[in-house]
Amino acid sequence: MPHLSRLKFILGLAAVLLMTAQAFAQKSSLPALVEKNGHYSLLVDGKPFFVLGGQVHNSSAWPAMMPAVWRSAAVLNLNTLEVPVYWEQLEREQGKFDFSLVDTLLRQSRQHKVKLVLLWFATWKNGSNHYLPDWMKRDATKYPNIIGKSGQAIDSPSPHADATLQADIKAFKALMAYLAKTDQQHQVIMVQVENESGSWGSVRDYAANAQKLFDGPVPSTLLTPELLKALNISSVNGNSWKSVFGDRADEYFQAWYTASFIGQVAAAGKSVYPLPLYTNAALRDPLTNPSASNYESGGPTDNVIPIWKAAAPALDLLAPDIYLSGSERILKVLDLYGRADNALFVPEAGLNAERAKYLFEVIARGGIGFSPFGIDDNGTMETAAQTTDRLAPFANVYKAVSPLISDLVKWATQDKISSVVEHDDHADQMIDLGAWQLVVKFGGDGRANAAPVYTPEASGKLLVVKLNDNKFLMIGSRCHVTFIPAGNNIGKAWQYLKVEEGKYINGNYKALRILNGDETDWGGPGFGDKPDILQASLIVR
Ligand code: DGJ
Repeated sequence: MPHLSRLKFILGLAAVLLMTAQAFAQKSSLPALVEKNGHYSLLVDGKPFFVLGGQVHNSSAWPAMMPAVWRSAAVLNLNTLEVPVYWEQLEREQGKFDFSLVDTLLRQSRQHKVKLVLLWFATWKNGSNHYLPDWMKRDATKYPNIIGKSGQAIDSPSPHADATLQADIKAFKALMAYLAKTDQQHQVIMVQVENESGSWGSVRDYAANAQKLFDGPVPSTLLTPELLKALNISSVNGNSWKSVFGDRADEYFQAWYTASFIGQVAAAGKSVYPLPLYTNAALRDPLTNPSASNYESGGPTDNVIPIWKAAAPALDLLAPDIYLSGSERILKVLDLYGRADNALFVPEAGLNAERAKYLFEVIARGGIGFSPFGIDDNGTMETAAQTTDRLAPFANVYKAVSPLISDLVKWATQDKISSVVEHDDHADQMIDLGAWQLVVKFGGDGRANAAPVYTPEASGKLLVVKLNDNKFLMIGSRCHVTFIPAGNNIGKAWQYLKVEEGKYINGNYKALRILNGDETDWGGPGFGDKPDILQASLIVR
């Protein structure tokens, strides 16, 4: 080989090796939740990622159930499966850990090219202790439940039980250490620590050891001016729970100790494998400030988020499970959990058509993921057609956003996305786009200027990306849009330069046709039953 060619060859080889090393470094980087300029990103394999998830039923992480799970995963076209790890199975015998179910999940998720969020069903599962190993359930003195105000037994673990805490820490650490060792490809991108903690049936524990703590002082971490302000406490007399927190003392006490417990479990797991960790909330009505006897007391409900943040810093975020109904309630929940100090992630949304549209809101608000609950047939042997029907509202929205999800995530961090969903009253919604106002009308099939027809689940939705001042990408269904000149354009005549119907294929936009005539003249361009993509360019004259 002549001298110059050899040099070129060596340089070329070096470049290829460097690129391979970079690709490898990216691929092997740990999943992480990062915050920049007030925007959160979940990094997976080094790149921003949005969880288009699906959670299996509670008892579906067993190998026999997995074929049905994967059938549903394919129908949904999800990128992440949320699936439990059961403490009772992992540590059947005290101190001996069985990772066979975890192995199955890791292996199958690799085969299906789907990421995993593991759900640690341990001390708390929906406020109860039902996933404790048998050897713990049999020793209720060592691993106690809460005692109610009148001495009654409550079906909820005590957050003041050190033996339970130490056992949970040991098991969770074993799980995280096992993942660190075996999950080289980072199939697992996040872990949920416990499940819907808190207590039903008693706002707090009244056992003697708990009462002693309640009679003692409030920990100083909770008495900082910032925290008191966040809890709407303006003046404090004394430092007892009752004197500081009044009517809410029992609940805040339960929240502090539940969060401290779970925070310690999370910190222990993180110390051996620092994956993003979160815990989920059984919500309370966000509009009426009900008393804690009406919901799971002490869990990360909206009113105690500041307490959880202070008590459990090892948790990266607190996540709302959305089973509530009604647009006002659900939008309020998204407001309450998408905070400067909390990335928005919806790990469970009750699987009915009403809730699918909120995926658009979570994306527009810069959230990191969304997932319906109960995607598999739970052993009912439903037919393929039944699965397809059941999952259709979610499969449709996933199909619409999947091909451009990485662009959407990028645009969200640049504040370029807005979204509206049809409210229960079907009222028009306005979106401020700077030089334009967008009026969104719901109902109808989106294509004709006919009288509106609303679906029972008010399924209309629209997501708008501002590509530039006068060019907008829109993904919507069951709505029409009308642009109105605003800002510098107020009062000016205008027209569409072009409205295109398009499609994303592997991340690239492709125009299918230009809409004109009836498709834009009668009530503005519109969207039919299934989410569709339009790109509108406007000019003023
Ligand atoms: C919320 C829980 O987090 C899930 O594990 C499951 O029990 C659902 N509720 C059932 O609707």
